[in-house]
Amino acid sequence: MSQPSPSTRHAQLVREIQAHDYRYYVLDDPIIGDREYDALYAELVALESAHPELGTITSPTRRVGGGPRADLKTVSHVVPMMSLDNTYSEDDLSEFVRRVRDGLPGSAQVRFCVEPKLDGASVEILYRDGVLAGGSTRGDGLSGEDILENLRTVRTLPTRIEYGGPLTLRAEVVIYRRDLDTINREREDEGEAPFANPRNAAAGSLRMLDPRVVAKRRLRALIWQVVEGPALGSGHAAALEWLEAHHLPTHRLHAVADDLAGVRDAIARIEGARAEFPFEIDGAVIKVDDFAQQGILGATAKFPRWAIAYKFSAERAQTRLLDVVVQVGRTGALTPVAQLEPTPLAGTVVSRASLHNADVIASLDARIGDRVWIEKAGEIIPQVVSVDVAARSGSERPFVMPEQCPVCQTPVVRREGEVAQRCPNVRCPAQVKGAIVHYSRRFAMDIDGLGEALVEQLVDSKLVGDVADLYDLDAARVASLERMGKKSAENLIAAVAGSKERPLSRLLTGLGIEHVGQVAAKQLAHAVGDLATLLGYDEARAREHIDAISGFGPKMVESVCAFLFDPTSRALLEKLAAHGVSRPEPRAAVAAGGPLSGQSVCVTGVLTRKREDVHAMIRAAGGEVHDKVKKGTTYLVAGEKVGKSKLDSAKKHGTEVLSEAELMSRLGQS
Ligand code: IVH
Repeated sequence: MSQPSPSTRHAQLVREIQAHDYRYYVLDDPIIGDREYDALYAELVALESAHPELGTITSPTRRVGGGPRADLKTVSHVVPMMSLDNTYSEDDLSEFVRRVRDGLPGSAQVRFCVEPKLDGASVEILYRDGVLAGGSTRGDGLSGEDILENLRTVRTLPTRIEYGGPLTLRAEVVIYRRDLDTINREREDEGEAPFANPRNAAAGSLRMLDPRVVAKRRLRALIWQVVEGPALGSGHAAALEWLEAHHLPTHRLHAVADDLAGVRDAIARIEGARAEFPFEIDGAVIKVDDFAQQGILGATAKFPRWAIAYKFSAERAQTRLLDVVVQVGRTGALTPVAQLEPTPLAGTVVSRASLHNADVIASLDARIGDRVWIEKAGEIIPQVVSVDVAARSGSERPFVMPEQCPVCQTPVVRREGEVAQRCPNVRCPAQVKGAIVHYSRRFAMDIDGLGEALVEQLVDSKLVGDVADLYDLDAARVASLERMGKKSAENLIAAVAGSKERPLSRLLTGLGIEHVGQVAAKQLAHAVGDLATLLGYDEARAREHIDAISGFGPKMVESVCAFLFDPTSRALLEKLAAHGVSRPEPRAAVAAGGPLSGQSVCVTGVLTRKREDVHAMIRAAGGEVHDKVKKGTTYLVAGEKVGKSKLDSAKKHGTEVLSEAELMSRLGQS
């Protein structure tokens, strides 16, 4: 038999590798081992290096193209990406079915398609002429960021398909729970913070600038909508099946139902199987199947009227309360933490949960040895919600909060009106460590390499007693610490020295002054300009200046003044100033007469853009940013998952609530 030509062999290999990728990544059912796969891949690489003209953009070898980019471009969506109306109740569900029926002419038969609501990051995906040709994040719904290069690293997405017409898809990019465990283990080994949940990990990964890093994140796309594609006649379920037939990845879990009872059944089946899916879901989506009926029902400004999301309630599990340990935080607050018998819950193994404070323990009546119920409410942080009193054997022991700080043995205090017990000793090693870790955090002084473990060593070995001592560190002494070497010690000293260049607002953030978060620190820094000026004020001047900052309430003014004129913290500030720490706060170019001039804005919830960027845009438009809604706040910009209390205060103060997209349109951005 004669050898196939290089181009024939190339085409064969590409087809084979794609088919194996599909079996491995989409079907989770490989038919060859890693070794055989690697051999095919190596042959392809060799062939392309001998015949470079064969290595076209759709080749599996080209999933990771060039190097990192400087930024992500913004691209418009083909059709706006809407969100879904949410419900948690059965009543709302029957109401939805009724509304759908009422919205359709005569006694039209309605068929529903029920499928899981995938908890990931939504994206738009374009195929043109059979080639993966576009990809963007949801963004504000109208436009998103161009993430094509990152999507090309997603192994479930074929780079070439057997359909040449324009195809516009919507999908959720997810990370399997087991993959997140692997990624997090690697991150912890490298001293990086683990991702809190697969959704954050997926969303963060998609927006990274270097596709080579994205490729390691094991992202998967699961398509949930065909926006533009072949004339599929019937409807959504048929579209999903068409996708499957074309080896495009879907969740493969849809069911059709003709009435409310069928819809409920399908939801119950999905919820029942929730823990078995390798990815996180947070509910079910119920869609009117027929495209023509979808068209008749149309959409409101935000949601299609033909679909609704039914959110599942938090997952629960029972476990044993083995012990309660007390942690001391940066502010001295004592937090009791439940040590639990490790139990799987919503995709992770839970072994600890915060009990918040003594009052919470008392109201739960939780005793050591109790069987307790734990829950994850949408988020990753588990809570102890109740005690199984009937399961008590009598050997359970009540927990008593210690009267002394478990770290420095100073008697604890309870401030008036506060539930938290505190260690009042500002020299308490736990507080000192917490303060230094906070100071070095990315949003504060951003000292690279100064993480919890190293701070622990520095404080325990008495090299550092407060943040100012960091600037006196000596490379040789640091290098003598366990697990440190000459190189890492020098890097640390350089990073510490570099932190002197941060503007005043970052220093004020890093000092962790009570009630002064990033926003307030920025306002304060703008008002005073630089550290020397701040230190030059006498108490009356300081109070007058700080009081005049709009949005600073009495508590904040009190807290800043107490910090400035307390002998210990003042000495710390003076030491920092003597080391030359912090630069004058740059004056932001405020657009006088900008679209938001004279307006005050509070931003809350999960946004598509970085919170800091949105703040900067508001300021650049002449607006002021506050972290609370108060009397006089003009706008509350509400992202996803906005808290009820923020919305309530907006109502109370007559503050107008804007979506992120509405804010952008007021800023003249799209
Ligand atoms: S359909 C017109 N189906 O949920 C909007 N969305 O809250 C149609 N999502 O942005 C949405 N799984 O990111 C649909 N099976 C599914 C989904 C799903 C997850 C996400 C999607 C959307 C958000 C809406």
